[in-house]
Amino acid sequence: MIYLDSNATSQVHPEVVEAMLPYLTDQWYNPSSGYRSAKAVKQAITTAREQVAALINAHPGEIVFTGCGTESNNMTLKWLARLVGREKSRIVTSVIEHSAVLRPCEAMEAVGYEVARGGVKPDGRLDLDEFAGQVDADRPGFASVMWSNNETGIINPVAEACAIAGVAGWAFHTDAIQAVGKMPVDVRAVPVDFLSLSGHKFHAPKGVGALYVREGIRFEPMIRGGGQEDGRRSGTENVPFIIGLGKAAEIMKAELERDGHADVRRRRDRFEQRLMSEIEGVTLNGSREHRAVNIVHASFENCEAAGLLILLDEAGVQCSAGSACMTGRQQPSHVQKAMGLSDEQARSSLRISLSIFTTDEEVEEAATAVARAVQKLRSVQGPPGVGPVVVYGG
Ligand SMILES: Cc1ncc(COP(=O)(O)O)c(C=O)c1O
Repeated sequence: MIYLDSNATSQVHPEVVEAMLPYLTDQWYNPSSGYRSAKAVKQAITTAREQVAALINAHPGEIVFTGCGTESNNMTLKWLARLVGREKSRIVTSVIEHSAVLRPCEAMEAVGYEVARGGVKPDGRLDLDEFAGQVDADRPGFASVMWSNNETGIINPVAEACAIAGVAGWAFHTDAIQAVGKMPVDVRAVPVDFLSLSGHKFHAPKGVGALYVREGIRFEPMIRGGGQEDGRRSGTENVPFIIGLGKAAEIMKAELERDGHADVRRRRDRFEQRLMSEIEGVTLNGSREHRAVNIVHASFENCEAAGLLILLDEAGVQCSAGSACMTGRQQPSHVQKAMGLSDEQARSSLRISLSIFTTDEEVEEAATAVARAVQKLRSVQGPPGVGPVVVYGG
């Protein structure tokens, strides 16, 4: 199998597994206990916190471990909503956010909050003028804009959006779950107040994440209890996974410093070059300049993505048509619609996401498989919008 769906989740790095194992076997102690063995476990969490902080240039005390990226987003948005209050306030986000921001915002709207959603330009990046018009210094509020989009890989003008919110005196959160580990993210250079990250997007396991909370900013927890994580997220720590997250952060920091994922970028470019030269009617979507190095997002004229995915799976290539959470849903992606793609284009798009483990050979094989699948589908598919007219076999 050739795995090209690393934005859905990434392979756990073997060194991460190795780092985690002792904490599943010998070192199972509760880090809050008083004896030496437990203190050693607590120390390991401290190291993991330092590793995660170093990846985004934060102070260790600014990192709160959580159960996933979704939790990090929810705890921030719910706290900030409570802080600004419902009266006269406004929440500003964007139309291309992940459901882990969209759904909590809808829930706030349902109880009376005003939520404005900034649109994007045709290249998929936030429309800063519209965003600036929505941020209102005369009202209490906060903004949440994702760093990099999970479907298209575009990188938003987060520094500019953060500055606009700052001038208005608003707090600024970014869902950087698809950015951290894949590109430089520096919270001192881009002074966001809150930042969410998730381990399984950069070679740690699923079910562990973190929230960056700027030092000195007011923050109250969503989960209260035994006071772990400096009172900011109670619950006995998920030690092995936290250790894994720390190790993955250390590995990805070293990778970024070594070559900034140059090999991933080169392979992505090669993939795109093959698609463009071998298949007719291909459009590469999203900004060419401001994008993650690991994503190919392409629309294939007169080719339903659902059919392509079946053929590719049969050929041993795993990728997706959008975000993993949207798999199986019929409606075209909200991200692609926001960029101005037609329903037909949106239904004919593939997201191919590479990782540091993707090889040259895999890229060549997968590009050949995509070209074949498109050719086959076009030969059996009816007119645009009708969909495949045969059941595919062998
Ligand atoms: C941009 C973005 N935000 C949030 C999430 C949710 O993260 P988690 O799976 O850790 O809850 C994802 C995962 O797909 C994502 O891509």
